[in-house]
This record gives sequence, C-alpha cells and structure tokens, in this order.
Amino acid sequence: MRRDQVLQAADGSELSTLRRSLREPRTLFSTLLSEVIIDCKINHLYYGKFLAVRDSDIPIYKGKITAFIGPSGCGKSTALRCLNRMNDLVRGFRFEGHVHFRGRDIYHPKVDPVVVRRYIGMVFQQPNPFAMSVFNNVAFGLRLNRYKGDIADRVEQALRGAALWDEVKDKLKQSGLSLSGGQQQRLCIARAIATEPAVLLMDEPCSARDPIATRRIEELMRELKKHYTVAVVTHNLQQAMRIADKTAFMYVDTSGGGRTGYLVEYGDTKELFEGPKEEYTKQYIRGEFS
Ligand SMILES: Nc1ncnc2c1ncn2[C@@H]1O[C@H](COP(=O)(O)OP(=O)(O)OP(=O)(O)O)[C@@H](O)[C@H]1O
Ligand SMILES: [Mg+2]
Repeated sequence: MRRDQVLQAADGSELSTLRRSLREPRTLFSTLLSEVIIDCKINHLYYGKFLAVRDSDIPIYKGKITAFIGPSGCGKSTALRCLNRMNDLVRGFRFEGHVHFRGRDIYHPKVDPVVVRRYIGMVFQQPNPFAMSVFNNVAFGLRLNRYKGDIADRVEQALRGAALWDEVKDKLKQSGLSLSGGQQQRLCIARAIATEPAVLLMDEPCSARDPIATRRIEELMRELKKHYTVAVVTHNLQQAMRIADKTAFMYVDTSGGGRTGYLVEYGDTKELFEGPKEEYTKQYIRGEFS
C-alpha cells in the first residue's frame, strides 16, 4: 500500500467503512461510536525533555465544534497541533499516545503527514496569506494535490464558503496581502477548505480581530459546521459558549516543579459551563484565574 493510500482508504463511503468494520474489530468499535471522527489520546507529549502535556483524552465529534479552553501555556495549541501532526515540525517533539482519524492511526509510519493535513486542515491565529494573488492563495492546495477538476469553480466555492466571495470577486488578481486582517483570516479559511478537508483546526482564529470581525468568523464557523468538523482553541469563554458543542478544559500542573498541561474536564459545552464537575473548572469559569 502506498503511503497516501493508508488514509485515502479511510476516506471511503459509509458502506466501505462498514465493510472494513466487519473485518477489523477496532474499526467496528469506532463505527458503532461513529460520531467520533478523531480519537485523541495524549499520554505524554514532550518537547525535548520538557513534558508539555499529559493524560489528555479528547474526542472530536463529527459535525460538531469542539473548543479547547484553559490558561496560557496549558497546551491547547500543542494538543490541537497533535491532531494533524503539525508538531512533527518542532524539533524534539515526542508523543506517547495515539490519534485515530476515522479509526486509522495518523502517526503510523506509513502515513504521510502531508496527506493527513489534506484531511485535517488548519487555520492559524495570525492569518498567513502567501505573497500571491487572492485566487492563487485559494488554488494553492488544489494545485499541490494535482486537482483535476475546474480550479476556478472550486476557488469560487471556497471563497463563498468562507463568506469572502462578494468582497473579493473583483480583486482575485490582487495580492492576498492587500486584504484587511479579517479578510485575510477568511482567505486562509478559504485556502484551508478548498481541498475539502474533513476536519478544520483553528488556533485562536479571532484573537487578533475586532468584535465585528470576530462575530463574522463565529457565524462562519457555524456555517462551516454544516460541512466540516471544527476544533478551535479560544481564550474567550463567551465565544466557547456561543459556538462550541463540546468543550475541553485544560490546566497546568505545577505540582512536580514542572509546568505540564493536562485535561481537567471535557463535556457538552452547556453542561461544562453550567455544572462543571471539577473544582478547577469552576474556578476558571468564575474567572478566579486566567
Ligand atoms: N515549539 C515548542 N518548543 C518547545 N516548547 C514548546 C513549543 N510550543 C509550545 N511549547 C511549550 O509547551 C507548553 C504548552 O504550550 P502551548 O503553546 O500549547 O500552550 P497554549 O495553551 O496554547 O498557550 P497560549 O494560550 O498562550 O497560546 C508551554 O509550556 C510552551 O512553552
Ligand atoms: Mg496557544
């Protein structure tokens, strides 16, 4: 099997998923719990000798928005980057645990991380359009993946999907860098969805935006949820309450002299905010520490 086929095989129809399930007991289990598209279990995650995150099991449910919240340094971005092997780019990164996407291990040696990122796309805190036209920014991933269909049509669909088409349809040849910050962020979302990933990871996509641009991106996330699964890191608790179906609260353990992030509580957003089970969650939600 070729490297890229390992995940492509996981991208089949419901029927092929079911067929595969019948052959593989573990996949059958994940099919029965079919709502979980990414099953993430971080036992220990190191940057060099530094234990950055431990004991965090975070399921990502299909078609839902999952928010990662918690104080600075608790490992939210680290955990998010684990979901599409973005930490592989960090020297000294080491990970014990697993991340299963549609029942398949994305850290399997035969899996190409570039292929993983086609299925699980990412949008960063600071928009990072390439120094090329608006059109080419969105077409970039399509060309990289040797897309055989109508590129112009796909670019338009992606820009519409990112609620940007009306603002840029007459500026497709202008540099992506000439757009406003909020437009650049939506351009990066368009670039990420152009290749139709199954999951979209967003690391604080609104933190550098004003309230109006923030609301637009939140509305967009609700729209995106109809077609994609979204996992988002946010510092803004109100935002998590407004947009997320599921919430993972992480905190920092300093008891052993280190600063290791871990999952304190995970659940339905409403339940987690209205009836948190853990004392740390209660305190964090009450704003007793930041
Ligand atoms: N590339 C890296 N190399 C070494 N250590 C890192 C790296 N990225 C993060 N860390 C460390 O891992 C821990 C978790 O960092 P991370 O960025 O995941 O936290 P965070 O919860 O996203 O914080 P913030 O809310 O400030 O963005 C921190 O102690 C941080 O210093
Ligand atoms: Mg972060």
